[in-house]
Amino acid sequence: MKIVRTQAELLEQLNNVRQEKKSVGFVPTMGFLHEGHQSLLTKAKEQNDYVVLSIFVNPLQFGPNEDFDRYPRNEVKDTKIAEEANVDLLFIPSVEEIYPRPMSIKMNVVQRTNVLCGKKREGHFDGVVTILTKLFHLIQPTRAYFGLKDAQQVAIIEGLITDFSFPIHLVTVPTVREEDGLAKSSRNVYLNENERAEAPLLQKGLQKGQELALSKKYTSKEIIDQLMKEYDRLSGELDYLEIYSYPELEVIQELKGQVIIAVAYQYEKARLIDNTIFTI
Ligand code: PAF
Repeated sequence: MKIVRTQAELLEQLNNVRQEKKSVGFVPTMGFLHEGHQSLLTKAKEQNDYVVLSIFVNPLQFGPNEDFDRYPRNEVKDTKIAEEANVDLLFIPSVEEIYPRPMSIKMNVVQRTNVLCGKKREGHFDGVVTILTKLFHLIQPTRAYFGLKDAQQVAIIEGLITDFSFPIHLVTVPTVREEDGLAKSSRNVYLNENERAEAPLLQKGLQKGQELALSKKYTSKEIIDQLMKEYDRLSGELDYLEIYSYPELEVIQELKGQVIIAVAYQYEKARLIDNTIFTI
């Protein structure tokens, strides 16, 4: 595995790959890799001749009161995981390398953003599409891999790829879970013992919501009311619980087609998100 830290080194490596007409799978991450990322890498390895992994904690997608400085980082462990996953090229740029000066052009996501996580994290998805635009231009992958745990992010990236005509296949990979159902996340390390014990109930609630929706006997509001009762028993605070069409993320009167039920839950030091996407 080759490790590069500058754009120039990255392009030099990729020049050879492109000359050989190899397909390139790209897995963009912010590091602190876990099984969720590993499943993206496994899929990328299966489907491509050459796999690029990027690790970059992107300051542009963190709000002023968010956890940019506290975001967990472990380059040594990440490098080991990348090696074990047979990554071909690992790109770990510094913030100065990616943003040597303030951006003179700003990207602004205007759809699929004022719901779920986008509602409270103003500018977050603008930061996500900005960094991905840079990385897509640099790496020019054949396929790019994203986890469905961040379902809103996937919906917005679908918009980015389509609207800006990136010749890239978007590949989505299901959420990887702990044995008790809790979605894997870099932020799970911040849960205390009690929070960690009850956190799997978030997914249980979503499963119940899915069953209710599939029974076709309940409206979105009735399903949300039922799940609220379940989540009321937990020790943290519900941030949102919402039902939309997917990937459009629009309110649906009649539950039909592809639907997402998504939850965000705030514990003392960690905000957890999870969702279920299914077809009625
Ligand atoms: O999902 C993430 O880790 C980040 O939002 C991404 C896609 C790597 C962009 O910084």
